[in-house]
Amino acid sequence: MTANEPTSSSDEQAAATSARRPPSTVSFVLDGAEVVLADDGATLLDALRGPLGATSVKDGCSPQGQCGCCTVLVDGTARVACVTPLRRVAGRSVTTFDGIDEAARRRWVEAFVAHGASQCGFCSPGIVVRLESLRRKSVGQASGQASGLRPGAVERALAAHLCRCTGWQTILTAAEEVIGGTDEDGTRAERDFEAASRRATLELGAPQRVGPDVVAGAVGFSADTAPGSCLVAVPDSGSDDGWVSGGTLAAARGAAGKVQGRRSTVDPVPPLEVPEGDWTVTLRTGWVDAAYVETDSSWCEPGGSPSSAAANGGAFGAKRSSPLPGVARALADEHGRPVLVQWSREDCSRSAPKRPPIAAGIRADGTGVVRVVRTDGIAERIRSVAPGLDVVEVDVVGPPTSAALRAAGWAEAIVLLAGVAATSEVVAVEPSTDADPERVTVRTGDGAVATASVHERRIRICAEGGALLDPVVARSYCIGAAHMAYSWVTSEGIAVAADGEVLDLTVRSLGVLRAADTPHIDVELVESDAPPVRMSDAVFASVAAATWRFLGTPPDWPTGAPSNS
Ligand code: FES
Ligand code: FES
Repeated sequence: MTANEPTSSSDEQAAATSARRPPSTVSFVLDGAEVVLADDGATLLDALRGPLGATSVKDGCSPQGQCGCCTVLVDGTARVACVTPLRRVAGRSVTTFDGIDEAARRRWVEAFVAHGASQCGFCSPGIVVRLESLRRKSVGQASGQASGLRPGAVERALAAHLCRCTGWQTILTAAEEVIGGTDEDGTRAERDFEAASRRATLELGAPQRVGPDVVAGAVGFSADTAPGSCLVAVPDSGSDDGWVSGGTLAAARGAAGKVQGRRSTVDPVPPLEVPEGDWTVTLRTGWVDAAYVETDSSWCEPGGSPSSAAANGGAFGAKRSSPLPGVARALADEHGRPVLVQWSREDCSRSAPKRPPIAAGIRADGTGVVRVVRTDGIAERIRSVAPGLDVVEVDVVGPPTSAALRAAGWAEAIVLLAGVAATSEVVAVEPSTDADPERVTVRTGDGAVATASVHERRIRICAEGGALLDPVVARSYCIGAAHMAYSWVTSEGIAVAADGEVLDLTVRSLGVLRAADTPHIDVELVESDAPPVRMSDAVFASVAAATWRFLGTPPDWPTGAPSNS
């Protein structure tokens, strides 16, 4: 595939040029400039990220068309590029995040930064593109004034997207501000992005930047920074070393015979049985994917240092042991040239570590038994919180598990103790009063405290973690952790067959709650002079426990949404 230099900027010119060219090429206007490509059956996403170098357009699930990260405007209408054949845009105008009118793009970026609506930033450019199309529709053609949107329009637009990090609410706030035209009142607070990045890094335990570049998705994701000279390697179960390479991602996937993964019709079922006993409450959890959106990738020069699989944040612990940097180095040495290795969404579903499932029974005095899928370090995590629980590790065939995922084992132990209202140094349940609803308070060993209560369509959190460093980021990470907890309890889980094969292979089958299904999350932050410590683990555990109690401690997760939500 070859690309010519951009030459002009009008839709009419592109249409006329396309009509003159032989059918083996496709011409269209990209971000205001005409481009011409050979038509080799590629998708628009292949062309944008490949020869056209438009790396603000992300690939989170291609060609499933379910994460929204590859969203562009085609003649002003939002489309996902990974399921759009290149030839379908012949003679049309394609706009990426980078091609949005500069003033509008600035407004979106400033609003996202002001509300903490980007964390890793991988989903952000695609979301901004779709919201910009909504903004344009909302503006009265004649008057140029905002005409408003129907209630729920932003939530419906976001249904085409996946954001794992933010919990949606900050994105909704930014969207309402920009689309409603209330974003340009000149009152944006000055921010110290270095301090904000320190809070973000603390919350996720991995380097994380904060600022305009994050909204633009320009933070050095491996698949964006790989040199054009890279071979691309993808998993191939039929080859000796498990990898096959090609000149492009599409060529490598073609050589591997990649088959598009699907969502199964099988319900996710927790794999372990609750031990025999006279229990006050029982709990079984299933296989839960971390659902990070940037699939693992890494590139390396021969003899060089491979790029990180997690450029901006650590995928909630799930990429801590990603094998791809090691593979990139080995393949680069073998081929004597740079190699980019890349997992697809299906590869992540099969091979990325899951939260270890448990099956537990607990008595009112906090004693009981937890059976857990055998996982390095998980027993210690559970016992550190609940010494009255016997931990029994069980070998189960299935996807890999990891104790590195957000608060794994620790949060489950807190949930069990809260389920029987056992009070300890770590967790306490305050019953409801006439004035206040029931509240679950969780304390971490380093001094963070979070109190959560769950109501109809509303979650309330009070969080304390020393010096806030940046209240916007602190609030954003508390909202993200609360969404992740509520989503884990009510919605997340994948089906795994008895032989261990992962059956659910799409982004949607991971069960991450959509914006429209997420309760409103109120956050009160308590600042102190103490050194800053991570708050989001305490928020995650307290919201999970409060959600479970609010639902009546049903024995199996995911519980399904509350019937009246
Ligand atoms: S990469 Fe196109 S929708 Fe996910
Ligand atoms: S900020 Fe949306 S997936 Fe990370």
